[in-house]
Amino acid sequence: VSNGATAWRWHVNQLPAGVYKLHILGKKVAVIGAAGGIGQPLSLLLKLNPNVSSLSLYDLVNTPGVAADLSHINTNSKVKGFKGADSLGEAIAGADVIVIPAGVPRKPGMTRDDLFNTNANIVQSIGKAIAQNAPKAHVLIISNPVNSTVPIIAETLKKAGVFDPRRVFGVTTLDVVRASTFVSDIKGTDASKTKVTVVGGHSGVTIIPLLSQTGINFTQEEIEKLTHRIQYGGDEVVKAKDGTGSATLSMAQAGARFTNSLLEALEGKKGIVEPTYVYSPVAAKDGVAWFSTNVELGVNGVEKIHPLGELSEYEKKLYAEAVPELQKNIKKGEEHANKA
Ligand code: NAI
Repeated sequence: VSNGATAWRWHVNQLPAGVYKLHILGKKVAVIGAAGGIGQPLSLLLKLNPNVSSLSLYDLVNTPGVAADLSHINTNSKVKGFKGADSLGEAIAGADVIVIPAGVPRKPGMTRDDLFNTNANIVQSIGKAIAQNAPKAHVLIISNPVNSTVPIIAETLKKAGVFDPRRVFGVTTLDVVRASTFVSDIKGTDASKTKVTVVGGHSGVTIIPLLSQTGINFTQEEIEKLTHRIQYGGDEVVKAKDGTGSATLSMAQAGARFTNSLLEALEGKKGIVEPTYVYSPVAAKDGVAWFSTNVELGVNGVEKIHPLGELSEYEKKLYAEAVPELQKNIKKGEEHANKA
């Protein structure tokens, strides 16, 4: 018995740590817009992620170079670059997760909605390709305006008969990342452990930080200043970059965090909760079909959508201001996708 037990332990111990998991459980992830300001650092972070076994990098330009560069990093995933519209289908075929940072970013003075005309067509064409080549993939949309691009992809998948609300996500993680940082800036807390729930959408007044749920005491003045900074944090970066783009590095980190959370949930890890903009019952009574709250992720994507929880009077006011803007943004996306 003692020998048998030793032998068994020997086998387990001799398995190179992590390799079993990598080969059996690793997922295929495709990045669409992989050569861009977000796409490149996001692809780097995904190349370092042990939950990724295959990384497919698609863009209209420069992906062979980005892929060749990343492929020299000695992690176990395989990287392949795909350039040009003809290769999109091949790039995403069999993908478990497709992350989309494709499209134009803001310049100073622009709102996210100003990007609509260009990015709506880009995400719609990507949605059509997903419907044809990867209808079971989990689709993570970073391209702005997220409030509208997510409904565009969803309507496109619906038209093709392959929409599953558990698998379409707007990536709002950066709002939560910023909120943690901005709160810790003024309260001296550990930013990496400061949790702020941010709900609603991903632009201006639709971003609703629920500071009352942090367990931290704020004055009303602090609440108003922080709320404004979280809602318009992206503008600080757009202004500082002075015409060369918007957040790319912090967005890549936020996108990689969300992707990793989803990958872990797909691998069967329980209790993973991330905020994300999904097809949700939370604001449906107010005519808002897409809404971000904390969402528990599972093997099929969205597992459980958390409710808003208790709101302060100020947060109720923020919610009321967000509703008409979200209704407008969602309708605009749906109409774009459904026009002939
Ligand atoms: P970028 O211009 O640096 O990169 C965009 C990339 O998309 C380029 O490489 C371009 O060639 C590619 N692209 C354009 N059309 C394409 C198509 N049809 N198929 C595949 N690739 C295509 O822009 P950046 O800074 O990386 O931003 C990308 C998007 O992410 C923007 O819409 C921006 O507003 C958004 N964004 C979203 C955030 C969020 O929190 N969800 C935060 C920051 C930016």
